[in-house]
Amino acid sequence: MGVKILGTGSYLPPKTVTNDDIAAALDTSDEWIYSHTGIRSRHVAGEGESTSTMAAEAGRAAMAAAGVEPTEIGLIVLATSTADYNPFPSTACIVQDMLGCRNAGAFDLQAACAGFVYALEQARGFVNFYPDKKALVIGAECLTRVLDWTDRSSCILFGDGAGAVVLGNDEAPGAASMKTKAHTILGADGAGAHFIQRTGGCREALPAGAGGVPGKSVPRIPELTLKGHDVFAFAVRTLAKVSSELCEKLGTTPGEIDRVFAHQANGRIIEAVARRMKLPLSKFWLNLETTANTSAASIPISLDQAVRAGELREGMKILMVGFGAGLTYAGTYCTWPEL
Ligand code: UT7
Repeated sequence: MGVKILGTGSYLPPKTVTNDDIAAALDTSDEWIYSHTGIRSRHVAGEGESTSTMAAEAGRAAMAAAGVEPTEIGLIVLATSTADYNPFPSTACIVQDMLGCRNAGAFDLQAACAGFVYALEQARGFVNFYPDKKALVIGAECLTRVLDWTDRSSCILFGDGAGAVVLGNDEAPGAASMKTKAHTILGADGAGAHFIQRTGGCREALPAGAGGVPGKSVPRIPELTLKGHDVFAFAVRTLAKVSSELCEKLGTTPGEIDRVFAHQANGRIIEAVARRMKLPLSKFWLNLETTANTSAASIPISLDQAVRAGELREGMKILMVGFGAGLTYAGTYCTWPEL
């Protein structure tokens, strides 16, 4: 039995911050940022917006596209590294309530920028096991709230947003068929755990005299740090390797893939992957010029944009591949119908 993508949705906050806006405050320029990343601007969550509100917007749009009622959803898996709370209650539970998915179990999944493909695989297992149920898979991030906005090497890279898909089983007509487990790769390399980190967790000791002292509270300010060069090299190597391995498993060649939805971290990473796979860049969905890196949201936002632009046709062979903090990586194969 195949599991199908029945509908997609996405949300990007209306507020934007351009490279010029950043250059007005930091020693950088639109020219440097664009030439090194392919990014010109990013969406930024505004007043009243957060990971849960953006996730709910994307989820609502995906359910509408799928023609599925909130009560039909049996599971919500929400991939995020920027949960509303730190880390509980899960953002998925908040979204479950916002959407009225009262029959759904809900949990957050943290696999950084590879999180959406990890979440898809969890939900695929669920729908395979309970064929009469639907699952809502969401990637949502509010990264602009964990950035060090004085660090020009990292704050330029990220943006906010959310994307979602509804999964159902084989019997629903006209939906994308996600093949068996053999066509998904989930991986990790914890040796690179220090390449991208968000500080402020429980690992770090509090300042002397502040830990476990009754009556004393010390707020922790989480910030993102990254070793860009190391992540860049890992990303190019891994995305190309995962894509090639998926093709091998499918008994196909990269040339037969119609579209690649790769995590949008840096245009130069995607160009390098395209060169390694000997594929024209036109096969890769590119939107980071206006979205920047939205981490777990980047692949489902891209999918939804492609669907709504009429760029995905029935029978198209597509790959979704991501990498991120952990380090994590993941890829999956899908044959798409016209939606
Ligand atoms: O989704 C997973 C998370 N994503 C990533 O980790 C992104 C992966 N890495 C990258 O995209 C790239 O490594 C960056 C865009 C982060 C950096 O690009 P780069 O070409 O690797 O630049 P660099 O780090 O080698 O820096 C080159 C120079 C340095 O100056 P010096 O030391 O050569 O004098 C930096 O200080 O560019 C400087 N620099 C900047 N200059 C102007 C770094 N950031 C900026 C900036 N504006 N925003």
